[in-house]
Amino acid sequence: MTSPLPSKGKVAIIGSGLIGRCWSVIFSSAGYHVALYDNVASQIPAALSSIEAQLCDMEAKGLMRSKNVTAKEAFQLVVSVDDLQAAVDGALYIQECTPENLELKKKVFESLDNCITSCETILASSTSCIVPSKFTESLKHRDQCIVAHPINPPYYVPLVEVVPAPWTDSKTIDETVAIMKEIGQSPVVIKKEVNGFLLNRLQYAVIMEAWRLVEDGVCSAEDVEITMTEGLGLRYSLLGPFETMQLNANGIRDYCERYGANIENVCKEQGGPRSLGGDTLDKLEKELEKTMPLDQLDKRRELRDRRLAALAIHRRQEKEEN
Ligand SMILES: NC(=O)c1ccc[n+]([C@@H]2O[C@H](COP(=O)([O-])OP(=O)(O)OC[C@H]3O[C@@H](n4cnc5c(N)ncnc54)[C@H](O)[C@@H]3O)[C@@H](O)[C@H]2O)c1
Repeated sequence: MTSPLPSKGKVAIIGSGLIGRCWSVIFSSAGYHVALYDNVASQIPAALSSIEAQLCDMEAKGLMRSKNVTAKEAFQLVVSVDDLQAAVDGALYIQECTPENLELKKKVFESLDNCITSCETILASSTSCIVPSKFTESLKHRDQCIVAHPINPPYYVPLVEVVPAPWTDSKTIDETVAIMKEIGQSPVVIKKEVNGFLLNRLQYAVIMEAWRLVEDGVCSAEDVEITMTEGLGLRYSLLGPFETMQLNANGIRDYCERYGANIENVCKEQGGPRSLGGDTLDKLEKELEKTMPLDQLDKRRELRDRRLAALAIHRRQEKEEN
């Protein structure tokens, strides 16, 4: 690979779909050489065009991960490689981005395990839902395997859930965290494997309560949306539940003394999970079709990404000022 930039090292991205493209953009905009591999070679041209366009957009928005790298230079750092062995040779970090299917992840990790020779290379999966012990147990380099789960779209939503298997070496965890920070993402470490990792466990609690509120006739779907976008969501984009507790009383202990019993009572009332189907689904589908019809979802997705980009720009400026 030739590039005018001094190399920060090489990473390999396995799978050039939606998430593989995102990682390619993030790593290259931070100054890493990226070897992009896909077993369907015809995917690559579209992936490269999309990576180039996204890099230009990131540059225009001032969101490149390294100030010393232009979009043009970053794009030169991305090379498509049509052989898995060549893609991973010399890579310090490999990010697997193949479809969400356990049998496929097992196969891909087995191939990667056979390709790598260094006991330093990190083998990370982008999986959204599969805990790493399910596809790494029998591998020679299993202590180098980990999940690094991004949130879509990762250029604007920087959280990465880092999930080790029980046998993942602590060095692999620490280095994955360090690399994620270095490329401008915000890693959190899940200390033991749980389904849903962190973000989805929190998100599912919100989805389930929203469902119960609509199902029980407490409010409309629209009013749930307003409660989040004009209320809770605004707060939660700046501080989490524990800081909220700390600030909304004289510290968390005072908060628990004042409001704890009430919170426990409401949670008991909320009850267990509901089935996400039946009449409530019909009702929600009808209501959503009025404000966000299925044939206009692409427009809504563009709007979502524009708003998230504006928020990312604001947060970047805020970080630079502090
Ligand atoms: N889409 C999201 O919002 C999102 C968010 C976070 C994490 N993820 C996770 O990221 C992973 C990839 O998701 P995606 O949405 O990018 O999928 P995708 O379907 O868009 O892309 C998958 C790519 O992998 C390629 N591929 C398939 N088998 C392969 C193989 N054996 N070797 C190399 N390449 C292969 C396909 O050709 C395709 O280009 C999944 O595990 C998913 O759960 C997805």
